[in-house]
Amino acid sequence: MVTSIGSNKINCAVFISGRGTNLKSIFKYSKKKKSKINLSLVISNNNKAKGLVFARKNKIQAKIINYNNKNLAEKQMIRLVKKYRINLICLAGFMKILSKKFIKNFKYKIINIHPSLLPKYKGLKTHERAIKNKDKFSGCTVHFVNERLDSGKIILKKKVKLLKSDTPEILAKRILIAENKLYPKAINKIISKN
Ligand code: GRF
Repeated sequence: MVTSIGSNKINCAVFISGRGTNLKSIFKYSKKKKSKINLSLVISNNNKAKGLVFARKNKIQAKIINYNNKNLAEKQMIRLVKKYRINLICLAGFMKILSKKFIKNFKYKIINIHPSLLPKYKGLKTHERAIKNKDKFSGCTVHFVNERLDSGKIILKKKVKLLKSDTPEILAKRILIAENKLYPKAINKIISKN
């Protein structure tokens, strides 16, 4: 649980590497009267990430981190997270693995969205694997981040039916629509007011 005090919203950062559709859906949620977050910061390791364009258009602070040196990159990210008083980090298509040290040192919470029904299909190529195994369903999962890849406590999952005609690309599109709806719900679920 992440706790917000009184009517205050908690400050949230979204880490991205690319397109940013989940960033968009988190931003939309943050603008709702009943939302429990301010979207205060976007961090990207990729200066060409489309999500950065969206962030700038919508006047969200957006910072690019040079990941040539992971240690320095993480130090810089910790500085930013402190500066913007971030209580919740949402990974949304962030293609870098955070070090154990970063995860342990971040006093608050880090969550991630993954395009499969965890614990099935950790890592990459989730849609390919679901189709190859002729699964009836795949879907998406929002989970807390711990030191092991895609293995933290699950917050919410959403099933998506597989169709005979599915290719990884077509399935990815349907799952992405489910992801964009699921992420705000999961954020809402883990923030309690007191
Ligand atoms: C999503 O499929 C997410 O599950 C995965 O990376 C993709 C990011 O998409 N971790 P977007 O950048 O939010 O559009």
